[in-house]
Amino acid sequence: MAPATLPSLKDQVALVTGASSGIGAAIARAFGAAGATVAANYRSSQEGAEEVVRDIVAAGGRALALQADVSEEDEVRRLFDATVQAFGRVDIVVANAGIQQDAAFADMTLQQWQRVLDVNLTGQFLCAREAVRRFDAQQADPRISRARGKIICMSSVHEVIPWAGHVNYAASKGGVMLMMKSLAQEVAQRRIRVNGIAPGAIRTDINTEAWATPEAEQKLLKLIPYGRVGDPEDVAAAAVWLASDQSDYVTGTTLMVDGGMSLYPAFRENG
Ligand code: BGC
Repeated sequence: MAPATLPSLKDQVALVTGASSGIGAAIARAFGAAGATVAANYRSSQEGAEEVVRDIVAAGGRALALQADVSEEDEVRRLFDATVQAFGRVDIVVANAGIQQDAAFADMTLQQWQRVLDVNLTGQFLCAREAVRRFDAQQADPRISRARGKIICMSSVHEVIPWAGHVNYAASKGGVMLMMKSLAQEVAQRRIRVNGIAPGAIRTDINTEAWATPEAEQKLLKLIPYGRVGDPEDVAAAAVWLASDQSDYVTGTTLMVDGGMSLYPAFRENG
């Protein structure tokens, strides 16, 4: 058997949404380090995205920060236009941008429900649809990748774990899962791969409350068999692999990156 090699994204152009912080920023940096040219999308934190771009460029890579709200059809089209204008093509799209707006169910406003669905689910639909259109329209280049294009949908353990107090978020991620699988089924013959990543508890701004104090962290660790809170780099490593040819035979699947959170840890000594 040939020795294992590191996954490479050399000469590929990757668009990462929500790349100004957290998981998206780590993915953008890891893609840059793996040789990809990176379009780092942000909605409001230009500063965060520019910092990611600076890091990639300082390490010898190519990157650009691009503003767009992924829940707006025109802005998504503009985002892809700007990416292709700057870099000539797009090979990898990570639909990562996501938000939480938590509320007890009876108190959840229609606006809270709608905004979370708009960003987390419709935003991924708009980005994935634009990705498929661009992949279909451009010349595939087997020298840089066996696939015509690759889409990674950022999901969550809450695509399968129900989550009281976060019904809008869980509904959006459940939707992401079946959108991803149905799309993967539809476009596989065109050699477009579509996969999801389901992070568990990762140390980012979205869930600071859940890990920032030692008490909160202890409580959270009860849900994580592997015994540590995840880092954005844990998810980024999975994204590099899913975007690379090393996963060329993988499509329509969710990779759980959760330290075992989805293994029903409460059942270890019970049931
Ligand atoms: C959520 C986090 C949460 C984690 C595990 C993620 O999808 O965004 O807030 O800590 O799931 O429950």
